[in-house]
Amino acid sequence: MADATADLLDDGERLGVEALRELQLERLRASLRHAYTHVPFYRESFDKAGVRPEDCRSLDDLARFPFTTKADLRENYPYGMFAVPRERIRRIHASSGTTGRPTVVGYTDADLGMWADMVARSIRAAGGRPGDTVHVAYGYGLFTGGLGAHYGAERLGCTVVPASGGMTARQVQLIQDLEPRIIMVTPSYMLTLLDEFERQGVDPRGTSLQVGIFGAEPWTEEMRREIEERFGIDAVDIYGLSEVIGPGVAQECAETKDGLHVWEDHFFPEVVDPITGEVLPEGEEGELVFTSLTKEAMPVIRYRTRDLTRLLPGTARSFRRIQKITGRSDDMVILRGVNLFPTQVEEIVLRTEGVAPHFQLRLTREGRLDALTVRAEARPGAGPEVREEAARSIAAAVKDGVGVSVAVEIVEPESLERSVGKIRRIVDLRPRD
Ligand code: DLL
Repeated sequence: MADATADLLDDGERLGVEALRELQLERLRASLRHAYTHVPFYRESFDKAGVRPEDCRSLDDLARFPFTTKADLRENYPYGMFAVPRERIRRIHASSGTTGRPTVVGYTDADLGMWADMVARSIRAAGGRPGDTVHVAYGYGLFTGGLGAHYGAERLGCTVVPASGGMTARQVQLIQDLEPRIIMVTPSYMLTLLDEFERQGVDPRGTSLQVGIFGAEPWTEEMRREIEERFGIDAVDIYGLSEVIGPGVAQECAETKDGLHVWEDHFFPEVVDPITGEVLPEGEEGELVFTSLTKEAMPVIRYRTRDLTRLLPGTARSFRRIQKITGRSDDMVILRGVNLFPTQVEEIVLRTEGVAPHFQLRLTREGRLDALTVRAEARPGAGPEVREEAARSIAAAVKDGVGVSVAVEIVEPESLERSVGKIRRIVDLRPRD
């Protein structure tokens, strides 16, 4: 553990592995009981699987309990998953849900307190300190990013600038005038800010910013390098999902930048085979599953995130880490039998000379086969030869690295849609059937 931060750790972070496992088991048993007693959905699903909360005598016993999916949450919309009377719910958030009903989540006073503590812990792990100014450019509203970051930064003792997303020109002005040390924003919106700095003729490396805490969407090591170099800051990863709490489920430590420590004293992680549901050993890639250990309003038991990663042992903290998320199983494109994630293309595009870090994947159908076109933006000043070479090299790298042929179009600078929050990488133009 790095000495510089050791005296700043909270009680949970100081637990050794053995004490942590004991605490987890005690909290897990209480959480299973809470869910079973107060949420008809869990009572039914446990009964159907023939398990009772008392059957959980060790952490491994959790594997005997049934999974919970996003579809279960949708079916119980809006308040069916709540384990406390509505009057005790202090706040609601909801996921956007591109189709159909959104997913509603709720928090009691105690849940909001725990959430703020976890985000405060995350900001501190990222290098933030009481007294820092934090510019929050995650969207405020039903999305958990803005308000989650906000209350966590306040809890740590920071000065918060609640900029929210959008009005990009003003964001650049605020950053210059209010001199934040920390920015919390999606990595794709950070790139939109970069364009705006350049448009206004302001040197992005010359600002007061020293740390960026980026999450809410997958991003790669190549993207980290790009952002760190262009802004002259440290870029670290924050992970979370509204069903579990919001941002602050896992956080990368500034001193190691080696994946994200899961705040395991509140959220118990498993990685399972996405097809069989079998729990995978540490180090193997699969779907991340969470069980909340302390949530009151909406406990989640074995919630399937659809995010793909692997569990790794602790380093800067005793909590286990997850590797940077590869992508969501829903964002996986299956092309002639080959699986492809937008992050694989991101790695390649960002390594390619003459193209900007902006790209889109366009899915079409040719006859009975799906086809993919990678659209990447030329850097300003990149001439026709550079562009042609870039297209060739991206196509070759996808063929070599992923094993599938794609078309590549290098488009004009600033012609692709910019992000103001979570970016949409895949444009699906296939006919609906
Ligand atoms: O995106 C919460 C959040 C806000 C996290 C701000 C970090 C920062 P949802 O809108 O419910 O919540 O979306 C959750 O976003 O299941 C992942 O697929 C993706 N995601 C979140 N953080 C990361 C990350 C918020 N660091 C979904 N890396 C999750 C990759 C991420 N994907």
